[in-house]
Amino acid sequence: MSDITDAEILPLSLEHGFWTWSAQGKVTPIPIKKAKGVYFWDIEGKRYLDFNSMVMCVNIGHGNERVIKAIVEQAQELPFAGPPMASKPRATLGKLLSEITPGNLNRFLFTLGGADANENAIKLARAYTGRHKILARYRSYHGASAGAMAATGDPRRVAWEPLTMPGVVHFLDPYRYRSTFHRTNPEISEADFTQDYLNHLEEIIHYEGPETIAAILLETVTGTNGVIIPPEGYLQGVRQLCDRYGILLISDEVMSGFGRTGAWFAVNHWNMTPDLMTMAKGLTSAYAPLGAVAMRSEIAEHFSERVYQGGLTYNSHPICLAAAIANIQVMQEEHLIERAAAMGPVLHRMLTDLGEAHPSVGEVRSIGLFGIIELVRNRQTKEPIAPFNGSSPEMVAFRKYMLDHGVYIYTHWHTVLIIPPLIITEEQLAEGFAILDKALEITDKAVKSSA
Ligand SMILES: Cc1ncc(COP(=O)(O)O)c(C=O)c1O
Repeated sequence: MSDITDAEILPLSLEHGFWTWSAQGKVTPIPIKKAKGVYFWDIEGKRYLDFNSMVMCVNIGHGNERVIKAIVEQAQELPFAGPPMASKPRATLGKLLSEITPGNLNRFLFTLGGADANENAIKLARAYTGRHKILARYRSYHGASAGAMAATGDPRRVAWEPLTMPGVVHFLDPYRYRSTFHRTNPEISEADFTQDYLNHLEEIIHYEGPETIAAILLETVTGTNGVIIPPEGYLQGVRQLCDRYGILLISDEVMSGFGRTGAWFAVNHWNMTPDLMTMAKGLTSAYAPLGAVAMRSEIAEHFSERVYQGGLTYNSHPICLAAAIANIQVMQEEHLIERAAAMGPVLHRMLTDLGEAHPSVGEVRSIGLFGIIELVRNRQTKEPIAPFNGSSPEMVAFRKYMLDHGVYIYTHWHTVLIIPPLIITEEQLAEGFAILDKALEITDKAVKSSA
């Protein structure tokens, strides 16, 4: 490693790297050098405030010594044990997870990330129910492998059709700001709004044939597709529909889990226990790649005599499990879940203030440290500042301003996501918001009046 100079990092990475989700000639990677807390630095020493927890995953913040030490010690003691082995980290992490997951989700299949966790959850649901269809929502992302991509509702799926997994049917999200069913009556009560979306789902269940549906797969709080927070009663209603028709409920907590919403898992806010729950990202805070499927004991028992047909060479990799154990201990001992819950209203107030000050802000939403700003050209028509699945000169200029001024932030079409590490302080949040406040002057210029 030492024979490469800092100056060579970017050109060599560009020469030999192949970049995901990108046209190769258009990438502009930041040559990162080090990271600590809520900040990271490039090779020039420029500091960035990380408002996206890198990929919405560094929940405990960067450079945590305890997790690093756990990884080093595990590497020294036993860097690898194959999937058929029992090991100390495997025993410890299973026990720890069963203490923090809801209900009787107490058996865990370990993967390397979120996509393969969802793939395995789908397989488990199909094998358990003997049914094949998966219902998922349009505004969702479940991963880039074939099955997870098929389940994904957003346009990332469309590029690969029809070569993805068959048997997925999509339905609409209870997305109040742009609700399809309520364009003429936006003031509808929350209870009626919720019921309309549950009726929509039940109608689809009827049309598809409940006896063909293995599972409904949902991001508990939708992530990149809009930080859509389910209205009161929605998740409980989906749970009831699943129970009524013998369908399993899979909660994708890859982004919403591990404190992001101010609870261990977003399902905790609605006291809902799914049958299967997938996790990744915050499970290790990205110190090592790891995903997991939590399953109800009955589902695990179904496979007591039957073989579960699935596996991965790196299932239960000791180094990744050791990272997860230390990460969870950090969250527990530093009370990061409580801290995210306490910072939730602080973030919400800052978002609301921004919305009041800037006409290009159509709506803000947040839960815990999971926030979003929807940018519009017109508040009445809600015309987004960039088209669906597209960008615009204003969004490009906005993001450039943020990066130029040292705030690393994720923009998606016409939205801006605020997903900082859970250790962020009010002062650090305010530091980022001061720059956001300036950057929004760019998008405000694009606002058109209704007249
Ligand atoms: C909700 C959700 N599910 C699944 C995934 C896929 O996870 P991975 O990229 O680790 O495969 C992601 C990744 O962003 C996600 O946000």
